[in-house]
Amino acid sequence: MALRPFSAVRWASALALGAGTLGALPVHAAPDARQITTQGVNGAPACMTCHGANGEGNPAAGFPQLAGMGAAYLAEQLEAMANGSRVSPVMAATAKALDPAQRQAVAAYYAGLPSPLNIDRLAATARHPVKPDDTGAWLATRGAWDKNVPACNQCHGPGGIGVGANFPSLAGQPAAYIAGQLRAWRQGQRPPGPLGLMPAVATRLTDAEIDAVSAYYAGLPKAADLLAAQANAAGAKQ
Ligand code: HEC
Ligand code: HEC
Repeated sequence: MALRPFSAVRWASALALGAGTLGALPVHAAPDARQITTQGVNGAPACMTCHGANGEGNPAAGFPQLAGMGAAYLAEQLEAMANGSRVSPVMAATAKALDPAQRQAVAAYYAGLPSPLNIDRLAATARHPVKPDDTGAWLATRGAWDKNVPACNQCHGPGGIGVGANFPSLAGQPAAYIAGQLRAWRQGQRPPGPLGLMPAVATRLTDAEIDAVSAYYAGLPKAADLLAAQANAAGAKQ
């Protein structure tokens, strides 16, 4: 029996099936967040050139860490930098170049990367004794209750490791970056955020206190490693 030629009708239905399958895909593919961070998009530069290949940031240059921070928090910051309520000369054009879906996608991408912070070591720093004249450490661990400023660690976690989706980590962020954010809240150049907690804190700090507490958190990962090494050495001697 001769093979029947694949008829025009069957081709047509096969193609229609294919077209039907294609038609079921979303018209716009979901944004490729990884590609945006490594190659840029819509004229925005690749995020990794400043925020690092793994979202670890660049302390020397003052570029913040993004890896492991809350997705909603990061998306809100991108939105605020795009609409100008968070004033950022460096990020404004980049944030604006991304559409809302791309901002959500990169925020989720960075939130999903492992944080470079050593949580246990950092948390241990909060139990280390602090002298009152060590302004940065005192503010971070005790606060300044004479002017109604709670310890930063109370909201940002022991050692500034961050708490949940709303309280970002501070440990290891560049000192200039932390100080810049505190001053931005004092000057109304960053949205108040949840319950206006940070403007309430920042407006009560002096310039010297801002610089001291920023230097403290920037240096905390190194200090935490040193403390852990000393504890190990002490343990080995016993
Ligand atoms: C030229 C360097 C540079 C590039 C490129 C860059 N950033 Fe930034 N980014 C910064 C700086 C500097 C800040 C701190 C902004 C400020 O002054 O408030 C920042 C802040 C941020 C923040 C806020 C972090 C926080 O803790 O509140 C997010 C989110 C962010 N960038 C995402 C991105 C994404 C996504 C891209 C790529 C599409 C990108 N950045 C590209 C330099 C850069
Ligand atoms: C009562 C709670 C609370 C206390 C106390 C507090 N913070 Fe915050 N902080 C927050 C919240 C909430 C945010 C997120 C703000 C937002 O979403 O814009 C934040 C954000 C920040 C940021 C921005 C981080 C980033 O990635 O851009 C910095 C810097 C900061 N706080 C520093 C401090 C310092 C320093 C202290 C102590 C002097 C402190 N905070 C005390 C609640 C607190």
